[in-house]
Amino acid sequence: YFAIHLLAAQRRRLDAALAPFLLAPDTLREVRDKMRAELEYGLKREAQGKATVKMLPTYVCGTPDGTEKGKFLALDLGGTNFRVLLVKIKSGRKRSVQMYNKIFAIPLEIMQGTGEELFDHIVQCIAEFLEYMGIKGACLPLGFTFSFPCRQGTLVGWTKGFKATDCEGEDVVDMLREAIRRRNEFDLDIVAVVNDTVGTMMTCGYEDPNCEIGLIAGTGSNVCYMEDMKNIEIVEGNEGKMCINTEWGAFGDNGCIDHIRTKYDREVDEGSLNPGKQRYEKMTSGMYLGEIVRQILIDLTKQGLLFRGHISESLRKRGIFETKFLSQIESDRLALLQVRRILQQLGLDSTCEDSIIVKEVCGVVSRRAARLCGAGLAAIVEKKRENRGVEHLQITVGVDGTLYKLHPHFSTVLRETVKELAPQCDVTFLLSEDGSGKGAALITAVAKRLHNIDKY
Ligand code: GLC
Repeated sequence: YFAIHLLAAQRRRLDAALAPFLLAPDTLREVRDKMRAELEYGLKREAQGKATVKMLPTYVCGTPDGTEKGKFLALDLGGTNFRVLLVKIKSGRKRSVQMYNKIFAIPLEIMQGTGEELFDHIVQCIAEFLEYMGIKGACLPLGFTFSFPCRQGTLVGWTKGFKATDCEGEDVVDMLREAIRRRNEFDLDIVAVVNDTVGTMMTCGYEDPNCEIGLIAGTGSNVCYMEDMKNIEIVEGNEGKMCINTEWGAFGDNGCIDHIRTKYDREVDEGSLNPGKQRYEKMTSGMYLGEIVRQILIDLTKQGLLFRGHISESLRKRGIFETKFLSQIESDRLALLQVRRILQQLGLDSTCEDSIIVKEVCGVVSRRAARLCGAGLAAIVEKKRENRGVEHLQITVGVDGTLYKLHPHFSTVLRETVKELAPQCDVTFLLSEDGSGKGAALITAVAKRLHNIDKY
């Protein structure tokens, strides 16, 4: 309706710039099929170290059964916030999970400084938390939600906004233990390192045993799912299932979806901390969507279609469009005047027409993200269906992440796309209540329980 008000010539140029973001159904099906092929390849022995979708075994072989109990510390690093948590789990009739948490900032210079500085900072935050909660003397078991790719506990490579030196190829538990030792003030029993997708799946699995997939659509984008052991070539044994952390954010790093990437995607990639890496994540996750929008706005301004052709200082600034701004701008309840006010806050002086265009750009970028993510998820649920050898699959996906939770349309479009591309699967989406914190504690509890059985 609003679009009609744009001049025809303006409209044509805007459409031309945005056309590459409108993926045809056939293109999406192709993305789904390519994702499927990459998932299969990542499970092969010959693919080790070569696959773009890494398919990392997690050694988590079951979901919680409700008998977990105890007091745990949990750390959550790699999402929007760094947090330290105290989690109390009760089993039996009084089954419940109680959590206390504190958010700590990680300054940019620490995220991108040395590994020692990063881990010293983490331990400093733990110390403050223990002090605050009054539990400094208690040597509690700790679960660490560390939302980066890890192979048997070692960090494969940083993703998202992190780039601390001397960490890649190192054991995460060792780095944390050494930092605790350096501080020499308290001791902790580090039991488990968990990816956020796995924590999310476990948390939702606590409520719904049919939950065998964990999805994060937030700062980053990733999925884990329960795979049949017989299909995981690099892990011994053929019985039962194991959770695989797909690390699908790296899908496309071999160029297989380059034909759908736009020049804006390439600009975002080149300006990032990890050029050439995490290409699918850069089209689908909160950390990058605002950057894509910004690149388009710069281009449209250069073409004289926006902001009276003037590229302001603010528009030159990387990272100005956070997920929460995109979510606000795209909210249907918001009047255009309010959109202009948000843009004003970001330092962008807009006319009414400008705000219409900005809203349209945001819409196109987030819709593509949701559809691409849906195409990926369709590949996963279809694989699960074929694994089980059923005509129709009923399955639950545990979900977390700011994009999924805050954005007004992302989750709807994602669900529609999965339905369209995996019609034989009936997928329920279950929002996780703090999967990263609770999940880490649950996995720690399961690990403790198994450990105790071993001992006796
Ligand atoms: C990035 C990380 C991955 C994590 C995801 C969501 O893709 O590599 O491990 O699960 O972000 O936080």
